[in-house]
Amino acid sequence: MRNFVISTVLILLSFLSASSYAWGPDGHRVGGEIAWQYLNPEVREEVTRLLAIKGEPSLAEAGTWADRMRSNSSYDWVAPLHYINLPVQWNGYRKQRDCPKQGCILEAINTYQRQLADTTLSDAQRAEALLLLVHFVEDIHQPMHTGLREDRGGNDVEVQFYGFTTNLHALWDVFLPAGFVSDWQQYSRAQPANITASQRTEWLQATPEQWAKESHQLAHANAYPKQAALGEDYYLKNREVVALRLQQAGVRLAGIINSAFAGGGK
Ligand code: ADE
Ligand code: ZN
Ligand code: ZN
Repeated sequence: MRNFVISTVLILLSFLSASSYAWGPDGHRVGGEIAWQYLNPEVREEVTRLLAIKGEPSLAEAGTWADRMRSNSSYDWVAPLHYINLPVQWNGYRKQRDCPKQGCILEAINTYQRQLADTTLSDAQRAEALLLLVHFVEDIHQPMHTGLREDRGGNDVEVQFYGFTTNLHALWDVFLPAGFVSDWQQYSRAQPANITASQRTEWLQATPEQWAKESHQLAHANAYPKQAALGEDYYLKNREVVALRLQQAGVRLAGIINSAFAGGGK
């Protein structure tokens, strides 16, 4: 295990950019692939049709679209929508107070959920809303996406993980998931058997604001480290947290997509 974590870290370090915006591709693929398994059959058909408009082969890959667009400057406006920065003390969410004028992840989820359900919009517009919605529902489950403004959600917190230098945000986006997800497809397909009906019911009752509250709580109780040198203790304590957040992201993404297509398009 230790060797796997270390070699994965080494490989991934060579790909990493200076500032990250999301779960790594595999985190997003896992969220999408778990969600797919909970979509109603008629919803799967609609989703497949919309994804095809954007050339996306699956919900799993569609979750990575918003990051692939980062190199396209006509999508620069999307950058602030991947996260929300909140103070250490949870004080609820209020748009006026907490969401900058450029937008934030909670408002983005709200907007794209409405657009996806709105059958008066063009298919192209609903398809793009779907791609953004998938990505942001996944991102909001990553605790560092509700982190502090002063350290850019952990991007500016340097840490050593098994002796390698990275930052706290990337650790949660990429390195922690990579420690236990070697084959994202196999991993995702095994997940529904690990999720009980009562967990699903409970998870589906929470609102996006509560998803943010859970992430915020995990950011401060688990993610922000007490020291810069992190290894086995930190990994073992947090891999279960990451696994749970990926499960919850998948279940809730399916919930939100199923209801968007069930509403008769308001
Ligand atoms: N990614 C880039 N900037 C960020 C921020 N301020 N908070 C969380 N994630 C980010
Ligand atoms: Zn993102
Ligand atoms: Zn991120």
